[in-house]
Amino acid sequence: MNLTDATDQLLERTGDLDVDALDKEDAADLAEELRTVVAAHARRYYVRDAPVIADAEYDRLFRALERIERQFPDLTTPDSPTQRVGGDPLDEFEKWRHPEPLLSLDNAFDADELVAWHERCRRGLAGRYGDDVQPDLAAELKIDGVAVALTYEEGVLSTVATRGNGTVGENITPGGRTIRPIPLRLPARSRDGDDTPDAPDRLEVRGEVFIRKSDFEVLNERLRESSEKPFANPRNAAAGSLRQLDPSITAERPLSFFAYGVGPVSGGDAPDEQHAVMEWLRRLGLPVNEHSERFESIDEAVSFCKAWTERRDEPDYEIDGVVVKIDDFEQQRELGAVANAPRWAVSFKFPARTATTVLQDIEVNVGRTGAIKPEAVLEPVEIGGVTVSQATLHNEDYVRERDIRIGDRVRVKRAGDVIPQVVGPVEDARTGDEAPWTMPERCPACNSELKRLPDEADWFCMANDCPAQFIRLLEHYGSRSAMDIEGLGEKLAVVLAEENLVRKLSDLYHLDKDDLLELDRFAEKRADNLLAAIDASRERPLSRLLFALGIRHVGRTVAEDLVEHYETLENLQDASEDELEAIEGIGPVIAESVADWFAVEDNRELVRALREASVNTRRLKREAPFSENGPAAGQTFVLTGALPTWTRAEATERIERAGGNVTSSVSGNTDYVVAGENPGSKYDEAQERDHVDILDEERLRALIENGVA
Ligand code: IVH
Repeated sequence: MNLTDATDQLLERTGDLDVDALDKEDAADLAEELRTVVAAHARRYYVRDAPVIADAEYDRLFRALERIERQFPDLTTPDSPTQRVGGDPLDEFEKWRHPEPLLSLDNAFDADELVAWHERCRRGLAGRYGDDVQPDLAAELKIDGVAVALTYEEGVLSTVATRGNGTVGENITPGGRTIRPIPLRLPARSRDGDDTPDAPDRLEVRGEVFIRKSDFEVLNERLRESSEKPFANPRNAAAGSLRQLDPSITAERPLSFFAYGVGPVSGGDAPDEQHAVMEWLRRLGLPVNEHSERFESIDEAVSFCKAWTERRDEPDYEIDGVVVKIDDFEQQRELGAVANAPRWAVSFKFPARTATTVLQDIEVNVGRTGAIKPEAVLEPVEIGGVTVSQATLHNEDYVRERDIRIGDRVRVKRAGDVIPQVVGPVEDARTGDEAPWTMPERCPACNSELKRLPDEADWFCMANDCPAQFIRLLEHYGSRSAMDIEGLGEKLAVVLAEENLVRKLSDLYHLDKDDLLELDRFAEKRADNLLAAIDASRERPLSRLLFALGIRHVGRTVAEDLVEHYETLENLQDASEDELEAIEGIGPVIAESVADWFAVEDNRELVRALREASVNTRRLKREAPFSENGPAAGQTFVLTGALPTWTRAEATERIERAGGNVTSSVSGNTDYVVAGENPGSKYDEAQERDHVDILDEERLRALIENGVA
């Protein structure tokens, strides 16, 4: 039976399930069915990122399984999906001695070093394979997370351990079991036609636990909303979440996993080439990074490394290099290891993203909520190919704790799209002329007195009519994660506010084309595009509007919770602080902030004006979470060939903005191949598969704009 039919049947059978009336045998049957189907859906959701049922249906099945297991506790199996919630907190982690050590890797910092590594391998293999040996290579992204070893016995996950010092790690099984993409049972049959190998009696899978960048943002926002300390980066967040003695905390963290190899295997066979192991792991149901390739020459591997140096910010997870491995295990054994690193693998490291430069001055910026942020004015410096002249200093305490002074030589870090930040001073470079900095007492934009509230890291401009705050709010309103008004960025927000064209958010919806045309660098087309983008924003889900209003402490998750509960902005506006606080996920700080905001007459007037401008203020029928409500949600795309107007990065971004997923190779998951000029083999592969639709740029555009190609 296929997954859909099995699911339908189970939904029916569990619709009005009375567990008291079940006899044990029926319960056992039903529990087994539910386990398989729930695990299959979890895999589609977490591993393949392509769910086929609604969250509510999934929850229903999951709860049915929980109820049966509660009624008949001995029917609970260790691989049951219900066992991911985590058990009791531990006092400390037990040590775990790895049956075979987990080695680390030597680095290559440029192409020459990579070629030199390859040459050493060739020499090492020459004795046995001849002087002109050309070993095949496997190249994989180096995921920046935490290394773990998973042990499966009889196909059931029995241990999750950290790498530790390579010989002895920590047994983190209770928390490790809660990581959704790690299958509790192998093969993780998805019941939808995958050809799945059998799991060996005993198998160690090695891989990396990490947190996706997007999940990291949400996690940190959640931590901030509940006044907990956010993590500095996704790697720390992954490590911190794994090292929780209380597995129920780990269970709440959005941990992801990619497998990249195997340790000891017994009672069964694993392939003996790296690329084949990756494919085998994938078939067993383990998540494997899609950007892995096999090459016959080092030149190709060098190109791969160079290409990924450019693309390093593209994936939704942090990578810090490319691992290049000799593909054949027999050749690997021939080469062996030195100290704690194998000779048969090397890590090509991306260039550093920190540099030092002089901190010329510290200015303060006013944020949309009035928060005052110190910002570094730097002597321009190139970091990873980009010239940096400004960097964030976060807040007063950050500057004070690191004793950062004006005139200091400072270390600056830039990573991807995030704002560069000053890491700290180079104290040895001090001359004595550096000047400590203090927070100004008045707002640089409106001159009102600044306040720092207890428990807050930031100083605030409390004025309701501060022009700088409004500009930031306008920019936020138009931003991608809020109302997504293309073209309304920082620069335009300044112009619209300074020219008095927009004095309150609702004025956006009354902008006049002639007024726009009078602005600098505004031609017909740009004005039309902007007006169209503003018009389109009228239809955004209410949770986005609520987030866009810039109410303090109302991040995207809180906005979703509020909308879920109140359904319309009008209902929410009349909610009392007590009522708000009674909602799950809403604490006193948020409740107060929301109630205070709606108590201000200007804000109530704004809500009225937005509604009168036909901006949606009601919950949409299906108010999906932010990333999921695009027209391409749940669809997987592969790009090949050059598109007429969009670059690859642009097309990728647009697809992702529409909720779609872009992968590099055609597989059973692929829904669309987007083909441009001179398409590669992916085009041919697409033609061979019935389920894959081939799009040109125009049809792609139609699809991501309207949901139909
Ligand atoms: S192979 C002996 N492959 O990098 C080979 N490692 O510095 C050891 N890592 O601790 C690992 N992605 O946690 C390998 N595709 C990949 C990897 C990878 C990330 C990490 C791993 C290891 C560290 C080595």
